[in-house]
Amino acid sequence: MNRIHLTNLLAFVSCFGSTMLLPQASHANTQVMNLSAMDIKVGIQQWGEPQAHTSDAPSASTLKFNTAVTTNADSRLTIKLFKGTKTLTGRVALDSRASPEAAALFSIWAGRVRLWASPLMQRDDPPIPFTLNLSKYGEITLKVDRQAGTAFKCPCDWLDTQFSYTGHEPLTVDKPSRWKNDFVPGAVWRDDKGAPIQAHGGGLLKVGSTWYWVGEDKSKGYNNFVGVHEYSSRDLVHWHDEGVVLPAGSLPSEFRSTGVCERPKIVYNRLTKLFFMWMHLDAHRYSVAEAGLAIAPKPNGPYRYVAAIRPVNNSTFRDMNVFVDRDGAAYLIYAAENNATLYVVRLDRSYGAPRRPEVEGSTWAKIAPGGWHEAPAMWRYGSIYYLIASHTSGWSPNAASLYTAKSPLGPWVYQGNPFKGPDADYTFYTQSTCVIPAPGHPGWFIYMGDRWNPGDLGNSRYVWLPFTITKGSEHFTIKWQSHWNLNHLGKNVNADGERTKHAMGH
Ligand code: DGJ
Repeated sequence: MNRIHLTNLLAFVSCFGSTMLLPQASHANTQVMNLSAMDIKVGIQQWGEPQAHTSDAPSASTLKFNTAVTTNADSRLTIKLFKGTKTLTGRVALDSRASPEAAALFSIWAGRVRLWASPLMQRDDPPIPFTLNLSKYGEITLKVDRQAGTAFKCPCDWLDTQFSYTGHEPLTVDKPSRWKNDFVPGAVWRDDKGAPIQAHGGGLLKVGSTWYWVGEDKSKGYNNFVGVHEYSSRDLVHWHDEGVVLPAGSLPSEFRSTGVCERPKIVYNRLTKLFFMWMHLDAHRYSVAEAGLAIAPKPNGPYRYVAAIRPVNNSTFRDMNVFVDRDGAAYLIYAAENNATLYVVRLDRSYGAPRRPEVEGSTWAKIAPGGWHEAPAMWRYGSIYYLIASHTSGWSPNAASLYTAKSPLGPWVYQGNPFKGPDADYTFYTQSTCVIPAPGHPGWFIYMGDRWNPGDLGNSRYVWLPFTITKGSEHFTIKWQSHWNLNHLGKNVNADGERTKHAMGH
């Protein structure tokens, strides 16, 4: 195939109301893709033959696209719509890199009914807007025809199509009711009062048969206007709102309002019989970078602020986690040295302070020096310790890294990116926050990630995915699942949660 001229047809597509997912199709040039993975601010989904893109999608004229999907003409993309999908708005245009002779027609169909068609478009034509009422339809098909008009035959036999959209509206995607007992990564996750859960950068603690989920309440933006919110659950799917257990107002003034409170985690200390919440506390613009500690007599608080410290080496403390080993030894893992290097620091027996005297290699250690990691999540299975971390690109997703070790203090060995499949290089548009053992399923774990929505952080989503580790192995794979159920782990189900011949996760 001659690929000398690449012609890009760009479409800016956004959906209002709840939502769109999972296309199926049979046309020769049609690909099946999971649009739920598109509910992101920045990212690329491939539709058609893969091409290299940066996270900045190309722009058409003055139109700047945040997210793009690429396809080849002539092609079709069928999208199944969740109930309640109301309107699709978008704009289409040829990319400015298109060859001057190239032309294409873009149309949207519901079965055999053509809902909308663009005129024949050429390079430098202004983007054409459209709005469709979709409430009557179960699915729609997006079509691109490169030889739509005889006057403009595309000189190349290759035409590229991109759909781009901000991703803001698909973030309003609600769980379809038939999946109400499933995990639906990327969908709005509501608490028992129907409000979207606000527990970003969060962590879980199990006390008896109850799980507690603490995280950042970003309903008033990224600064710390609200505090740490907590939820409880017995099945990890349905969550009861426990309220704001560490209100922003209870923190020293530099950490509230324009300050920052991120990635809180709670652990239980047997010695003191208290619950310890460690978190990243910071002043405006992340200028202080300290570890915050708050304590409560009960898992659901209220938590009382105790101190903010720099645990070792007087180094900065930002993205963080806490890991408690089988023997009760607890560790803080965090982005130090202005995020260049992860530190792991052993806490004392009370969990209230780093173990002293501080001795590198014995009470604390560096992980991946100069590796620029954030979002650490550490766990143990058998005799191996595992650590997933992201790289540092603000709220934008990047590829995850896996490290393994024989001891929390290392040495830690890089094992590559455990995420596999489309968008694995963007960690499925998520950033790690925690990994827990899947209850009742030895050898299975749940990856908890945040899908940040940088323009509206309170509208960020959670992506929890199951994966399995063969005991003793330093490698495993995390794959995308559009929905999944704890009861099916290890059974024969595919990425859509349907029963198949092949077991998921292997
Ligand atoms: C990425 C971190 O992982 C988040 O917790 C947050 O600190 C953002 N950076 C801020 O840009």
